[in-house]
Parts: sequence; C-alpha cells; structure tokens
Amino acid sequence: MSSAHQLRCTDCLEEIPGPQAASDFRCRRCGGLFEVFYPWSPAANDLADRKPHSPATPNTGGPVNPGARLPNPSALRFLWEERRTSTMAVDQSGVWRFRDLLPILDDPNQAVTLREGNTPLYELPRNARALGLDFLLAKHQGMNPTGSFKDTGMTAALSVARERGFEWVACASTGNTSAAMAAYAARAGLQSIVFIPEGKIAWGKLSQSMDYGALTVQLRTDFDGCVRILADLVKRFPIYLLNSVNPYRLEGQKTPAFEMAEQLDWRVPDHIIVPGGNLANSAALGKGFAEMHHLGLISRIPSISVIQAEGANPLYRTMHENGGRELIPVVAETRASAIRIGAPASWKKSVRILQSTGGSVEQVSEQEIALAKAQIGAEGIGCEPASAVTLAGLKKLVAKGKVQPEQRVVLVLTGHTLKDSDYTIHYHRNELFTSAEQAALTPAEAAEHAALRKPPIVLDPDPDTVLRTLEAHMELHPA
Ligand code: F0G
Repeated sequence: MSSAHQLRCTDCLEEIPGPQAASDFRCRRCGGLFEVFYPWSPAANDLADRKPHSPATPNTGGPVNPGARLPNPSALRFLWEERRTSTMAVDQSGVWRFRDLLPILDDPNQAVTLREGNTPLYELPRNARALGLDFLLAKHQGMNPTGSFKDTGMTAALSVARERGFEWVACASTGNTSAAMAAYAARAGLQSIVFIPEGKIAWGKLSQSMDYGALTVQLRTDFDGCVRILADLVKRFPIYLLNSVNPYRLEGQKTPAFEMAEQLDWRVPDHIIVPGGNLANSAALGKGFAEMHHLGLISRIPSISVIQAEGANPLYRTMHENGGRELIPVVAETRASAIRIGAPASWKKSVRILQSTGGSVEQVSEQEIALAKAQIGAEGIGCEPASAVTLAGLKKLVAKGKVQPEQRVVLVLTGHTLKDSDYTIHYHRNELFTSAEQAALTPAEAAEHAALRKPPIVLDPDPDTVLRTLEAHMELHPA
C-alpha cells in the first residue's frame, strides 16, 4: 500500500500534492486550511449538502469522483477485526489498524507508534440516571500513551514528518499537543521544540515535554501569541509544524470515530459531545464519520456538538452572533487551561461539522466545569478539566431539549485526570473558586459541590483518634 492522497483546501477547494503544502499549511490561494483528500473521499459538495441523519448512500462515489474505486465495507471490517490479534506494531496501534482509510504514508510499516488509540468506552450510569438518559458513554481518549487524544493525531503527522526527512518538529500548545509531540519525536529520533504560554499550562503536561526531551520554550504570552510566533518561525526555519493546521493530524484524530463505531457494533450513537479549543477535534471526528457513512460502514452520521468554557467561547459567540460566518476572537480565560484559546485555527471546519451534523455549541461556567469533573471522577473514571465541559454541556443540551432521553450519547473525554492534579486538589480542598464565585452559587449548587468534595483528613497516628474520626465521618456520610 502506498500513499495516495491530495490536500484539498476546505475553503476554495484548490487541490495540491501533499509534499507541496506551505510550511504554515495555509492555502497559497486563499489562506484556508487543507484537509486530506483520497480518491474515495466524499466530494466537497456531498458533505456540504448532507442533512443530519440522512439515509446511507453507500458506494455511490459522489458527484466529483465518479468511478473512484471505494474500499469495500465488509472487507474493511473483517480486516480491522483480524489485525487486533496481530503482533505487528502497526496493527496494535488503534490508529494504524485503520490505515486503509488513512493512506498518508508510502510505507505504513514505518509509522512512529506508541500503540495509541484502543481507548475504552465507559458507561456513566450515575450521570445517565441523573440526566434521565438511558445510554451515556464516555470515550476516554485520556487513556492514550501520553494521556490525551493528541496521540492519535501525532502518530499520523509525525510519521509524515519523518518520511519527508524533517529533523526538527515544533508546535505551540496548551500542554497536551506538546506532550504528545515530544514523546513521538523522541521515539522517531527527531528534535522537537515546544512553545507554551508561560505559567498557563498544567504542570503534568510541562513535565512531560521535559521528560521526553523536547526543547521547551515558555513564551510570556497566551496560546494565541505562541501560535503567531511559530507561524512566523516556520517560514524562516526548516521545521515541520505539528499544530492542528497540519491536516495529517486530523487523519489520526478521525480514527476514534472508527473505533467508536466498531465498539458499538457499527450502530453509531445519536450524539457525540466534544470540548472545543482550537476546534480541530470536532472537525476530525466529523470527517471520520462522514467517510464511514460515504463508504457504507455506518448508516447515519451522529450529531456532533462542541462545548466551550464561558471565558474561552469564540465558537459559541460566532455561532450565536453571526451564524458562523465570521470568527469573533476573544481574550481567553478559563481554569480549563487546555482550551484557553481565543482565536481557534479550525473554526470554519468546526462550523461546517456543526451545520452538517445538526450539532450545537454551548458554553459552560467555571463552576459547571468543576462540578462535572467531580461527577466524572466519582464514577471512577476521572478526566482533566477541559474534558469535563462535555458533561456540563450535555446537561444544557438535555435541559434545552436538544438531546432527548432516548438518544444514545457519547462524551469524548480528551485528557487524563492526572494531567492537572493541582486543579483537582484545589477543588477538593475548596480552594479553587474565589469568594465572589462561591457567593454566586445557589444553595442547591453549593450543596452539590459539598457532597462531592473529598478533602484529605490529616490525623496523628493514634488508633483511637483514627477510629473516632472514621466513626464521625460514617455518621455524616452513611453508605
Ligand atoms: N481537550 C484537551 C484535553 C485538549 O488538550 C484540547 C486542546 C482540547 C480538548 C480541544 O481540542 O483544540 O481540537 O478543539 N489542546 C491543544 C493543545 C490546543 O495544545 O494541547 P481542539
């Protein structure tokens, strides 16, 4: 199998061969972002016209690609299943196991892999019950090798970087992309440079990029400032850009859609909910579902909804204030530092996914994020703050009737709980919110937080003291 793809501008539809992309991955004609396009891809018009939940039209080829030979869905399902018992690294990867639908490498056996993907779909029975839903699952992308969903995209784009002979790779990051890039670069023997906003990323993530040997540069700016510096740098220096404007990242990040469909026996959920930061993930999952639908692997496309933090809500504002026509950038501020992004690069791609799948965009407050995170933790799963916006947003979608009780919902949890343990500890010690934020809570909300908080108890090592304390605790909190 060899690479057979083009890059297609998602704005002006210009097509170019992969290696001819500019170093900043912007279209030379219109400045738009590219997506990877295969001979069997759904045509652009096909995607734009797709109505949510339209019936499948498998193997019709679409108007722009008449006669393109499409992969056979039954054969693909069989092959992917068979690879699960293989001892080969590329088969054990939850990304490259699906390599037939991401033929971006000349030799996929050379992929740089840490056996990413293969993440669990967990049930969330208590949260489902509280929301009156029958079916609520969490696709936990935090269970990837470096603890976030970024690994699925990084294995793809970094493998391309190595195949094309780059020695240096770089990204601007709120912490997870940099952790993933540093790890995969180290595996591949490439040098990596990370640009992060100083003092604005979680320690766990910062420690990872150092541990994996990246050159870590903390810029005295925010994420959006880091992106601007790097965009300038890649034009002057032979470094390969691994931010999500790189369309190969999205090829890896679409594979959790395949995995999810397979895990659900090819009966896709009604609704997928993702956090929104730089907005590539919603676009990637949407691409994955659209491709599966086009090939006849699934019979319909789920709605994909995006949730942002109130203080970092450019997509929310853009959709509500001008229907998605023009980005309204914001100065971003939220404790969910992974999604503290004011000018998301992939906003147009995300708008198209919202519109073509019938999804919604919601914003949630800092207190709602913290509560949802504690509720996910209390199910024995846990996630980082940015991931918890999904549950907080789902509550709003249910309240507004945009998610019905009988619908099947999957939350995409993007990062592991250990990524930002400071946040968790501050929450449980009741040190997370300012007094003004505390005062704004209703008594019912304050009681919900109080019931979930589990601050550590410090005691002298005396058996009687320990026993008395436990008895008092059990009286207060009967099983
Ligand atoms: N959740 C987590 C844990 C993230 O790290 C990110 C993005 C997102 C959600 C948002 O995904 O950008 O595709 O909309 N983190 C990037 C980073 C920006 O640098 O690690 P998105």
